[in-house]
Parts: sequence; C-alpha cells; structure tokens
Amino acid sequence: MLKDLFMGLSQNQLLNSAAKKYGLKLGAQNVVAGTNIEETIKSIKELNSHGISCTVDNLGEFVYEKEEATEAKEQILKVIDAIHENHVDAHISLKPTQLGLDIDYTFCLNNLEEIVERASKYDIHVNIDMEDNSHLQPSFDILDDLSRNYDNVGTVIQAYFYRAEEDIQKYKNYRLRIVKGAYKEPKEFAYQEKKEIDENFIKLIEWHLLNGKFTSIATHDHNIIDHVKRFVRANNIPYDKFEFQMLYGFRKELQLQLASEGYNFCTYVPFGSDWYGYFMRRLAERPQNLNLVVKQVFNK
Ligand code: FDA
Repeated sequence: MLKDLFMGLSQNQLLNSAAKKYGLKLGAQNVVAGTNIEETIKSIKELNSHGISCTVDNLGEFVYEKEEATEAKEQILKVIDAIHENHVDAHISLKPTQLGLDIDYTFCLNNLEEIVERASKYDIHVNIDMEDNSHLQPSFDILDDLSRNYDNVGTVIQAYFYRAEEDIQKYKNYRLRIVKGAYKEPKEFAYQEKKEIDENFIKLIEWHLLNGKFTSIATHDHNIIDHVKRFVRANNIPYDKFEFQMLYGFRKELQLQLASEGYNFCTYVPFGSDWYGYFMRRLAERPQNLNLVVKQVFNK
C-alpha cells in the first residue's frame, strides 16, 4: 500500500516542480549530499577520508525539454571538472532520461558522448543508471554505441527483470552494478516476489563475480552482503574485483564497517535541487525511511 503510494507520488510532476522550487525539505537533506557542487565535493572529501569512494549523481528526471537536458549535461561536465580539480576519489552516475532519452535518441547519445569524452580525459568512470522497463533497451543501445569509442562506461543490471541473466552475460566485460531494481514493474517483465528477486540477485552477483570484469554489489541488505562475503572467501575472489555500494545517508555505520574491514566501498552521492522523485522512491522501497521525514517535521 505505502509502496504504491510513494511510487505514485515519485511520478507526480507537479509536486516534483514544487519541490525543485522550495529546496531540500521533508528530511531529504539526510539522503541528498547537497544542492550544489561545492557542498557535494565537501561530502565526498569526508567519505574519502574514511576510505570510501563515491559515485556522484546530479539528480533529475522527467526531462522533456532540450534546454533542461542541456543544462543537466553542463552541470555533469562541471562535476567531472570538480572531481578532477579536487583530486577526489569519485566517478559519475547518470540517468539517460535526464539527458534527453524521452526527447530524441541521438540528442541523448550526443549528450552522453560529451560527458564520457570529458570523463575519459581524466580517467573517470561513467555509470549509466537503469530506469524503468520502457527505457531499458534504449539505455543498453546507448551503452553499445558509446563503447565503440570509450571503455570508461558501465551500467546496472536490475535483478527483478527476467531478461537480467541474458543481459549480464552479454555485458560481462563491463563494470556492472547489480541491484534488485527500484521501479514498479508489471509481471510481464519482472519478478514480483521478494524471495524470487533476492534469489535472482544472488545468482547474478555470483555469476558476475566469477565471470565478469568488475562487480558493484549495490544493496543495504545485510543478509545479501554476508552471503557475498562468504562467497568471495570460498571462491578466492580478489578484493579488487568487486565493491559494495550503498546510497548516501543509509546504514552509515555499516558503510564505515565494510570499508574498515578492507572491502572496496562506494557511496552513491546524489545532489541537486531535483531530489523529489529520488526521495519518494527511497520511501517506497522502505517505508521505515519515513522516520527521516518524521524526525525532520518534529525537528529532532
Ligand atoms: P531491500 O530494500 O530489499 O531491503 C532488504 C533488507 O535489508 C530489509 O528488509 C532490511 O532488513 C535491510 N535494510 C534495507 N535498508 C535498510 C536500512 N536503510 N536500514 C536498515 N536495514 C535496512 N535501482 C534501479 O532500478 N536502478 C539503478 O540504477 C539503481 N542504482 C542503485 C545504486 C545503489 C548504490 C543502490 C544501493 C541502489 C540502487 N538502486 C537502483 C536501488 C535498488 O534497486 C533497490 O531498490 C534498493 O537498493 C533497495 O533494495 P536493497 O537491496 O537495498 O534492500
């Protein structure tokens, strides 16, 4: 029930515009690193000081105007320059719909190419985040097109999709982030039950750890993390072949613990004024995150 409510709210464009106008509210500041690049670099330096690397996401979605997509591209180029100039340990995560995928494929591809080109000059990796099923194939097409000229790109495999196993085999030579999947998908395309999704998630992680280039295991689920720890030990997987990833502001103690245990750890650092959809999806995933809102309202 609550999941559906928040998922519906995440796609409300009116509330999204209002949120952009009024800044970080409702507790979003606990899970968003800042509204500008300066604040974000500060947050990255703090995480780096604990041995944690970062992947930076300039928040934004529902982009249907070329001007807005171009602004997003310019902002991401500035982030890449800032990562380089500040010598911080960070790479880029981006969403194709923010860069014009719903406007025109070639326009979006050109935007991504400019970003990947700039990042490649500084040896910075770019991850193409995966969105809902309607954008899945075009996002893989963009990856295919980009990888003809660049090797600093990778993407995400969402374990709830039936096709994930085929995709992971096709893209095994890429740096891949494996996740459960954050959008509400119909049973025509995706597993619906937590048990089935978790089983497929573990299967994909194990397969890519054994056969793939580099695996980012992105989850807050301690059971999955413990399973991966046992699996890498049993199979002698070198620590430089994988990392754990979590979102900024979630399970901070566990993030620090994994980094201090010697695992590569990367925090997903979202920033910017377009925080609304991101924040609503986090509430949909885990209604207990409402605590963040309640604490804020009562100013505790
Ligand atoms: P899940 O929400 O299934 O929780 C499992 C269990 O873990 C819970 O029952 C609880 O015990 C524990 N737990 C979870 N969160 C907790 C918390 N905050 N505190 C205490 N215990 C907690 N999705 C997508 O579709 N495309 C993408 O590109 C990405 N990218 C991405 C990057 C990163 C770094 C992360 C971490 C996640 C994504 N996702 C994503 C989101 C992903 O698909 C998924 O929706 C969320 O991570 C939620 O699933 P989890 O595996 O984290 O645990």
